[in-house]
Amino acid sequence: MQAQKLPYQTSRIELLFEPSSQSIVPIDIEKLAPHPLLKTLYGQDPSDNLASSLKAIGQISPLLVEKMDQGFQVLSGNRRLLAARELGWKSLQAIVCKPSDDHQRQWWILESNHQRSKTFSQKMREADLMEHLVKDESRTRSLANLSVGPKLRVFDGSECLNSDTPDLAEVEHLTELLSTQTPQTTKKSFPRRSDTQIAKAIGLGGKDLYRQARAVWKAAQANDARALSSVKELDGGGKTVFAAFKDLRRRDHLATDFKPTPYDVWLFKHDRAYGTRYPGSIPAGIVANTLHYFTEPGDLVVDPMAGGGTTLDVAASLNRKCLGFDLSPSRPEINLWNIAREPLPESANGCDLIFLDPPYHSMLRSSYAEGSVSDHNQDDWKLVLERIFDHAKTAIRPGGHLAVLIANQTEKDIPDGWGYVDHAFDLLQILIKQGFLPQRRVTCPMEGAYRPDQIQKSRLNKRLLGQVRDLIVVRKPVE
Ligand SMILES: C[S@@+](CC[C@H](N)C(=O)[O-])C[C@H]1O[C@@H](n2cnc3c(N)ncnc32)[C@H](O)[C@@H]1O
Repeated sequence: MQAQKLPYQTSRIELLFEPSSQSIVPIDIEKLAPHPLLKTLYGQDPSDNLASSLKAIGQISPLLVEKMDQGFQVLSGNRRLLAARELGWKSLQAIVCKPSDDHQRQWWILESNHQRSKTFSQKMREADLMEHLVKDESRTRSLANLSVGPKLRVFDGSECLNSDTPDLAEVEHLTELLSTQTPQTTKKSFPRRSDTQIAKAIGLGGKDLYRQARAVWKAAQANDARALSSVKELDGGGKTVFAAFKDLRRRDHLATDFKPTPYDVWLFKHDRAYGTRYPGSIPAGIVANTLHYFTEPGDLVVDPMAGGGTTLDVAASLNRKCLGFDLSPSRPEINLWNIAREPLPESANGCDLIFLDPPYHSMLRSSYAEGSVSDHNQDDWKLVLERIFDHAKTAIRPGGHLAVLIANQTEKDIPDGWGYVDHAFDLLQILIKQGFLPQRRVTCPMEGAYRPDQIQKSRLNKRLLGQVRDLIVVRKPVE
């Protein structure tokens, strides 16, 4: 049979087994089921808007399927299958292939899915599988042909809808035919693995970027909370691989290179190497200086409103023990606890410092879980904080410290006639009334993240934008 040139001639699959025009056949949708590896690599495939594009322009490229005892297993094209099901199509065009073993099957899955758009995690799962296969396979197999060209064979949806069930005799014949085609191999032996080739195959640039990605991915696989958070951002397109890697590398800089600030104004930028991205997260420098000035190495620090875990990460870097709690834990090391409702658990008793970064009344209210202290009106919010200070006092050892980070309220919920609410002033009075001894009030200005129009409006309306935030540090007396 004369192999006919098809528009997808440059496809990797074609390089593997030179399909003839007859190798594309309509297959009954009921007989198609996705290979489980597709789910492992790409997760639950949404058909998103594929159904409408399939309806509008028809099936552009065939599925790659393997004939099984019963029906066919889809190696590539699961999203097309889901979309076609949604449209009520009866059949889809497919290339029927017969891999010689599971290794070849897995390669074909990788290669035939080369062109789909992928998240960072999907690319890295592909890379994991490639590394595994390359390591496992004979070294004669080459990755040089990994690049995949465009597949442009266009089928008309109506053709699919109207097509009869495939001629099984022909499918069988083709399957047989394809199985006799040996995959292309090269004489060049393949070094243990090539980061450059894998990077190219998964579409992640060069080997340096791939190695950075791998470092982040590996840390995430080991359940490292900051790496997991970076992977989430990478998947959503909100972070670059380089930034994620830089954060990972810099995470120990406090342990090796921390210079406490000698002044009582602490102005720091957010440091993504500490804590995970979280609404209202704070610069690591504030926690690092608090720990430096008010605790010793080996001390126990407790953060009852741990959020993204900045305190946990900084404490680990500065060699302090740390327990984190939150109403809505964002990381496995943070325990579920509502400090407004009950005193801290026994594990926190006798701690040396409690670092408290509560919601600044209603700021970011919608970002926190139901039951957050930010749900209360201003008077009740103060009463709840008073109760929390009480619980803190019970847990802190005599002579230990409580540090409370709090901003002024300058925008919403200001009492009639007031220009602002000085929460630090009010809370310090409560703390003194409770018997705590004031140690320090440190100015920790918030990073100005105001938009140009807000800045212009503030100048025009003579209304200052709020940046004042204070860290009040008090001590529990030694009785
Ligand atoms: C400003 S955020 C803390 C941010 C954190 N310092 C960081 O750097 O990521 C305040 C946190 O208080 C938590 N919270 C609010 N009410 C709480 C309650 N009653 N008990 C425990 N946590 C609470 C919120 O869930 C939120 O995580």
